[in-house]
Order: sequence, then C-alpha cells, then structure tokens
Amino acid sequence: MASSTLVRTLEHHVKRILMVRPTHFELKYSINPWMDMKRGVNREKALKQWDQLKYTIENSGAKVEVMESTGAESLPDIVFAANAAIIKGNKAYLASFAHPERQGERYFYEQWFTNNGYECVGDQDIPSEGAGDALWGGDQLRTLFMGVGTRTDVRALRDVANKLDDGTNWKVIGCRLVDPRFYHIDTAFCPLNEDVAIYYPYAFDHITRHNMRNETDLIEVSQKEARNFACNAVVVGQNVIMHQGNEEIANKLVKLGFTVRFVDMSEFIKSGGSSKCCTLQI
Ligand code: ARG
Repeated sequence: MASSTLVRTLEHHVKRILMVRPTHFELKYSINPWMDMKRGVNREKALKQWDQLKYTIENSGAKVEVMESTGAESLPDIVFAANAAIIKGNKAYLASFAHPERQGERYFYEQWFTNNGYECVGDQDIPSEGAGDALWGGDQLRTLFMGVGTRTDVRALRDVANKLDDGTNWKVIGCRLVDPRFYHIDTAFCPLNEDVAIYYPYAFDHITRHNMRNETDLIEVSQKEARNFACNAVVVGQNVIMHQGNEEIANKLVKLGFTVRFVDMSEFIKSGGSSKCCTLQI
C-alpha cells in the first residue's frame, strides 16, 4: 500500500468527536428532573471539567473538534453536543428540539455541519434530539438504537431511516423510555462495541428490553450507578470515559478488558448530562 493511502486509512479509523465549549453554560430553565434551579452551576468549574473531559478523550486516541458557542449566549445547553444531530457518513440528521428553550441551537449546529462538509437533513416538525436518542450498536454497529419518549417522537424512526439511507444494510430499532430521569437513550444505554452494551433496564419498557437483547449482549448497571450517569459514557477503542464514582460497573468492564477513565462531570449533571452528552461522534 502506498504510504499516503496508509495514512489516510489510519486517519479514517481515528474517532472524531465534536464538543461545544460551555462558554455560556448555566441553569436558566428546567426541562428535566435533574435541573433544580436552586442549585446554580459554577461555570469556571464546568469549563475545567470540560477541558479535562476533552483531554481524556484525546488521550484515549480520538480527535476532538471544538465548536465555539459564539452568538449562542442565550442557549446554555448547546454544550450538549450529543443532541445536535444523528450522523451517518457525511449526512447530519439535525435535531428538532422538543423544548422551545433549546430550539435555537439547531441554527448553530446547522452552520457548523454545513461549513464542515456535511449535508444537513431532518424534519423540523418531528421532535428528535440527535445522538442523545440514537446510538449505533449490535452486529457490525449496523443497528441504530433510538430512544422514543418525551424528546424523540416515534415518527422520527422512519424519517431517520429514510433520510440517512445510503444503500447499505442497517436498521433502526425504537426503544421506549419510561422513566423521566432517563429522558434520552444515552442516559441509560451505551454500546461498548458491536457485541456488548451497558444499560439500566428499568429505563425501558419490557418489550424494549427484549428487543435490545436480540441485538446485543447487555450488562446491567445498578440503579444507584445509573443515577450517577454510569451509562452516559464516551467509548474510544477499549477506553470507557465516565463520571466518577461508578466503581461497580467499572470493575465489571475492567474484567472484560476495558480501561475505565473517570472524570468529574458534577456541574453538567446538574443540567441532566454527563460525559457522553457533551460529545458527538462525527
Ligand atoms: N439540559 C439538557 C436537556 O435537558 C441536557 C441534555 C443532555 N443530553 C443528552 N444527550 N442526554 O436537554
């Protein structure tokens, strides 16, 4: 193989992750049960935690692209990049946020994707919240597990399948979310590779649990650690990056050959998000 081809092939395998700097992060409204307006966030601390998360992701071997939140002063949750879009190849299925408080984010994400060579698709009339509610897993990572609940409407399943269709063989399965604390699928489920995922079963209805088990092996996370955002992890190769204090699941993952890297995401958890929510694989 010519060396330039080799370099390109290797580059292609480096995971690329989009993060949005939390310049304007705050608790300005409450749209999920975690967002207690009485507890303000410490933005300086949040910026430090975000830097540490970025460093840990890069140190695990991924490339991080940063979107600045210039102009998005009134959109504190824009830091949760997972919600921007669902990515397939060079297509970005843009979110249509369920809550008016976040709807303004779409404009900034659309600009970023367009300027970075993505074709933006989507439907503004169907609520859907990007990769926060859509995770690739199962055999050859060809199953898109989509959360269906208060944020992503069931109509999005078909629309995503149609608009991201690239002629290859993949499918969408709908996963019904039933606990308001676990309002996006990425708060309760995390594929680690094409064989296995961690999940908090009681975030889903029992038919969903059955359907998920048909696609992938599942390791159960306890209620305590699920509420400590153990499932909201960033996976880079064998590295699993999650909020600290989740020793029980971490020990299980270490036994399976993963390296768990804890980060402190306390400021973001006040808004109902942790490490995975702050990232989008692109
Ligand atoms: N405060 C944000 C919201 O309620 C948190 C989003 C977390 N994102 C995620 N992918 N789970 O929308």
